[in-house]
Amino acid sequence: MSVPIIIDCDPGHDDAIAILLAAGDPAIDLLAITTVAGNQVVEKTTLNARRICTAAAITDVPIAAGCARPLVGTRYVAADVHGDSGMDGPSFGEPTVSAVSEHAVDLMYRLLTGHPEPVVLVPTAPLTNIALLLIRYPEVTRHIREIVLMGGSTERGNRTPAAEFNMYADPEAADIVFRSGLPLTMCGLNVTHQALATPDVLARFEGLGTELGGICVELMTYFGATYRKLWGFDAPPLHDPVAVARVIDAAIVHCAEASVAVELRGQHTRGATVVDLHRHPDRPVNAQVALSLDRERFWDRIVTAVGRLGERADRADRAPRADP
Ligand code: RIB
Ligand code: CA
Repeated sequence: MSVPIIIDCDPGHDDAIAILLAAGDPAIDLLAITTVAGNQVVEKTTLNARRICTAAAITDVPIAAGCARPLVGTRYVAADVHGDSGMDGPSFGEPTVSAVSEHAVDLMYRLLTGHPEPVVLVPTAPLTNIALLLIRYPEVTRHIREIVLMGGSTERGNRTPAAEFNMYADPEAADIVFRSGLPLTMCGLNVTHQALATPDVLARFEGLGTELGGICVELMTYFGATYRKLWGFDAPPLHDPVAVARVIDAAIVHCAEASVAVELRGQHTRGATVVDLHRHPDRPVNAQVALSLDRERFWDRIVTAVGRLGERADRADRAPRADP
């Protein structure tokens, strides 16, 4: 039985792979892709969602653009990590997959309330759209099974020494989500840094022999170059697919109960996720926090999903066009 999800993302190299995993793995029923300002401005993250869906022939999943700025603070983008386009590296043609005109928050509300069972939200970006959904439509919570997000960290950050980018980009939105009372799983840097796209992983994508597999290699090669330059990584961590993998098979991502609070005021710590893994009466448990990753099963699911989508897309490209 596939799990219905909505991905809220800011493509973004790793968001793109997360979309492919969600669309290509039979354990997931991808209801929609919503976009938000994060790695780049929302116009670019939306265009990138359209680009990756066009490349993968994902034509039956609505894409809706969401918030262009955080709830309160300054808008930051991560052009240093993802490039000016937000998904530098591969050259994409003009996308044939379009976005709907409906705002992301309204699309999420309509799909959530119209679905026969509660839906899992998988945010892999700043939480602005999710927070706004909960503010605008508070009754929607009964239609949300769980929030499984990429963001935060049990240890240090990446945008600042204390704060991970998705949390740092909109701490007030993150605070609203973490205090919502909804079942929540946090896949932070402490676990996503175990999802390294090492040369043997890139070779598996190359070995698929599909155009989409080649695009993934180009995405991870670019991402790897910026991670080497900025943080001295030997291979890029594919953050966002970890959240999708947790939904696909909980055994791939080991979690523990924790109390998580988002710092809003610290001069040097704003956006930090303050995680207490030890039960304390003053800090009630409000999240499952991911601690370790089964790398082999993680990459097996992603390579298989990309292979499935890539072969289908290449067959569609080779199919004779109907006479106009
Ligand atoms: O800190 C990593 C997160 O920030 C990932 O979601 C990446 O795509 C960026 O949005
Ligand atoms: Ca992201």
